[in-house]
Parts: sequence; structure tokens; C-alpha cells
Amino acid sequence: MIINRKKKSDVLPSEITSHSSYLNRRQFLGQTAALSIAAAALPAQAIQTHESTRKQRPEWLAKQVAAAKETKWGKGESLTPYSNVTQYNNFYEFGTGKDDPYKYASKFKTDPWMVEIDGECEVKGKFTLEDILSQVDLEERIYRLRCVEAWSMVIPWIGFELSALLKRFKPLSSAKYVEFTTLHDPKQMPGQRSVFSTIDWPYVEGLRMDEAMNPLTLMAVGLYGEVLPNQNGAPFRLVVPWKYGFKSIKSIVKIRFVEEMPKTTWAELAPSEYGFYANVNPEVDHPRWSQARERRLPSGLFKPNRIETQMFNGYEEEVAAMYSGMNLRKFY
Ligand code: MTE
Repeated sequence: MIINRKKKSDVLPSEITSHSSYLNRRQFLGQTAALSIAAAALPAQAIQTHESTRKQRPEWLAKQVAAAKETKWGKGESLTPYSNVTQYNNFYEFGTGKDDPYKYASKFKTDPWMVEIDGECEVKGKFTLEDILSQVDLEERIYRLRCVEAWSMVIPWIGFELSALLKRFKPLSSAKYVEFTTLHDPKQMPGQRSVFSTIDWPYVEGLRMDEAMNPLTLMAVGLYGEVLPNQNGAPFRLVVPWKYGFKSIKSIVKIRFVEEMPKTTWAELAPSEYGFYANVNPEVDHPRWSQARERRLPSGLFKPNRIETQMFNGYEEEVAAMYSGMNLRKFY
């Protein structure tokens, strides 16, 4: 994975959005349910992102996202500013630079959006995003996101538990893993048509069935109280907060229940560097760098904001039991 460089967009820790100021804004939004007001409360750069994609965002989705319930998750955490969350991204379909997704995903079409369900389950077929979301309750969860490249963020996601969706398709007992696939559309995604790309598109990821059903595992359709910006994986992405960020696959078009461990993009590309499990683990270094610490965004040259990385990204209580007896050096 390309290691990032320092960007002009890095901002000082003093610019961190406090949780309370965000919640105040959220409360205000709830009263008005008007996204134009959301734009007014966001920094100038953010409005640009917002404006460029707003036209494509269906109203029903914006309303559902704005009505998401608050939860206990991440209360007290300092949020990473919206500008970092939406302009410092990994979405190689739009380029390998950290600001490429922000620059090149603004016209990405996410409506209508179909998701295909297949494999070891009773209910299969193609479902619209609207159909999928009609059967779930959206909530806000503030989760830490730790990239394998040793930077991290704290993001207020809007989404629902993946388990709620998977149960609907009645997985069979033969379903041991879940495979996820991102849209393959080189016309829209410059990274997929790049001759320099070493990725065998489409981007694929997977989880063991118990990981997929864990209550922490989220499908996100929004962040910061608004519909997911394209660069963050609109309209529908996975968020697995105890694993390195590359597991949190974006813009999903296919979910397949499978018997065997599925192939995953980064593990295929560099198997000695990226494993299927990819659990955040400060004791197991990446072959090329330490994983003991991370750079929490916003970070700058004079204030790198380095903090210790926590086992399972701090979600040990919720997930450690799934890996008891496993050698986490071998199954990295
Ligand atoms: N999903 C797809 N389809 N393509 C990608 O390149 N990058 C992954 C993950 N999901 C990626 C992806 C990586 S490496 C990280 S760290 C996170 O997305 C970043 O999510 P963010 O850009 O919303 O912070």
C-alpha cells in the first residue's frame, strides 16, 4: 500500500471538531431536516464536496440519514474534522493519491444502486438500496478507523448493523464467510482503467461469518449527519473498526455467502504484507513499518499527533473472544 505523504490539507489538532459542537449541529439539523443548512455549518472546502454530489443524492436517503438515532458508541472521542475525513482517503478506484478520491469521485453515479445477494443463502437476487434500507434502522456510531499505513481518524458514521441485513437473506449453515465486491466500472473509475494499476479489479474483501455478524460490524450510508460522500464509499460501505481500514470495502455491489475463505484484494497483491484477518495489532509489525503507534489526524509536521495503537483498535472487549486460541502472528 502506498505510504502517504504530508498533505497541505493536514490541519492542527486545535481544529478538531468537538463532539458537543457536532451534536449541537446535528440537533439543529434534526429540527430542520434540510441539507442546505448542513452545508452552511460545514467548512468552505466541505461545501464544495457537498454541492458536487448533492444533486445525485436521493431525498429519501438524505431524510433517513438525518433521522439516524444517536448511540453510546464513541461518546467523548474527539472527532477528526470533516475536511480530513472527506479529503484524505484511500479509494484506489479513483487514484492512489490521498486527495484523488475527493478530486475525481464527485461525478460518480450512486443512484440508482443495486446490490446482488448470492451464494450459500435461501434468499438471493438483486435488491435496490432503497429496499435494503427500508428494513433497517439507521444509527450514528462514532468509531476509530486505523489504516494499515499507520494513520487513524475518528468518524461519526451513520449506518446499521450488517447482521440485520445478512439475516434477511437466510444464510445456510454452509455459509462460513461473506465476500464483498466493489463496483467495477472503469468508465467512471479512473483508477480501474489506469495502466499503472497493479490491482486485479474489482476490489474484493471478506469476513468470517462470526465477524460479519458481530454487533460492531456496520454498513455505513452516511457520516457527519449527511449522506456518505462519494470519496468515502457511497452509497453503501462496510466499516469494521477493529480491523485495518482496507477491510472496510467501499461502494459495494455484491454480497456473497461462501464456504471457503474468499480471496481479498490486498492479501492477493502482497500476501506477506496483508492478511485476511487484518486485525489491528500493535504487537505485529507490518514487514516494512511498525504498527505500535499511529498518526491520529489531524496531524502536521510540527504536531504529528502520534498516539499508541490499541489492540483490536480498542475494541478488545467486543471482539477478542472471536480469536481466542488463534496465533495472531500467523493469522495476521
Ligand atoms: N474500498 C475500495 N473499494 N477501494 C479502496 O481502495 N481502500 C481501503 C478502504 N476501502 C479502499 C476501500 C483503505 S486502505 C482504507 S484505509 C479505507 O477504505 C479508507 O476509508 P476512508 O477513505 O473513508 O477513510
